[in-house]
Amino acid sequence: MYNSKIIGLGYFVPENVVTNDDLSKVMDTDDEWIQERTGIKERRHVIKGEDTTMSMGVKAAKIAIERAGIDKDDIDFIVFATLSPDYYFPGPGVMVQSDLDIKTVGALDVRNQCSGFVYGLSVADQYIKTGMYKNVLVIGSEVHSTGLDFTTRGRGVTVIFGDGAGAAILSREEDTTNGILSTHLHSEGQHAEELSLIAPGMGTRWVTDIIKENDPSDVSYYPHMNGQFVFKNAVVRFSEVIMEGLMANGLTNKDIDLLIPHQANLRISQFVQKKFGLSDKQVFNNIMRYGNTTAASIPIALTEAWEQGKIKQGDLVVLAAFGSGFTWGSVIIRW
Ligand code: ACO
Repeated sequence: MYNSKIIGLGYFVPENVVTNDDLSKVMDTDDEWIQERTGIKERRHVIKGEDTTMSMGVKAAKIAIERAGIDKDDIDFIVFATLSPDYYFPGPGVMVQSDLDIKTVGALDVRNQCSGFVYGLSVADQYIKTGMYKNVLVIGSEVHSTGLDFTTRGRGVTVIFGDGAGAAILSREEDTTNGILSTHLHSEGQHAEELSLIAPGMGTRWVTDIIKENDPSDVSYYPHMNGQFVFKNAVVRFSEVIMEGLMANGLTNKDIDLLIPHQANLRISQFVQKKFGLSDKQVFNNIMRYGNTTAASIPIALTEAWEQGKIKQGDLVVLAAFGSGFTWGSVIIRW
């Protein structure tokens, strides 16, 4: 048995900054409401024709590969987590294989929304643990801005989400006291529709009917979120799954050096911080600048924390996510 270790990290966000004031020009909202409820000050949106989920993922991956000091052909497997693929099918994993001109390794797409990167790390970790692969590229990337409702009708969702991508190279680690110590994953599908985008759901809806109906009041093309219900579930599940990960390794909250929660809402992160008795320095947040970038949020935050020298060798780093599905999970890492 081996462990897996993160040996390279990278992120990419589009240059286009959209502030709360920018949004208040197109919908009935304001900076104070958004900051008070979510902590978000601004987010990035792609510019039409410049970037896509796949292209941002590739940009983040190139940085991660370079920092890992490996060649692209050392990559044995690709995992791509997103809820906003460029095409309905195929998923962006295979496009990364082609765009980076990597040999014909396997490429897997993960559809677990905000927990997507945590699920992706868990999959990569199992392949490395068993010895099947040595280096796995894991990407989380999202373009939300092209699919949001920029009218007052959509304000409860649209102000929260932003675009961006992050990537990590996981590599074989012989010392099993180092690297990823555990991953824990969960789901509760009875709440699938509380945070969802129903259309185009080709398993249930005939595309020809949708085109014929062409109903402008049909909101199934926009993400729907039961915000307060999501909030209440998030704070419980974040706490549970962090505790589950700590206990599985004989650790407690006192052992945490840095918690990087999925950047869902600053209030959720603050709730979890308080629950675990962590200081501001022990929790990394960047939702203020990027909004909620779903599968990209943890790899962007992890990369920024690492770039800012907030992660040192030997530190206990905890990643945790909760989101649509509902799905949630944690990753405990000895850096
Ligand atoms: N600007 C101004 N007013 C708004 C806005 C907005 N952007 N959005 C909603 N409102 C209004 C509502 O219409 C409502 O008005 P009403 O009382 O006249 O009907 C009022 O503000 C309160 O709306 P609520 O939805 O009850 O507001 P709440 O305090 O619950 O905050 C929020 C909404 C921020 C979405 C909150 O519920 C939340 O953070 N939930 C968790 C959501 C989350 O984190 N999602 C992401 C996690 S999962 C993932 O990452 C996929």
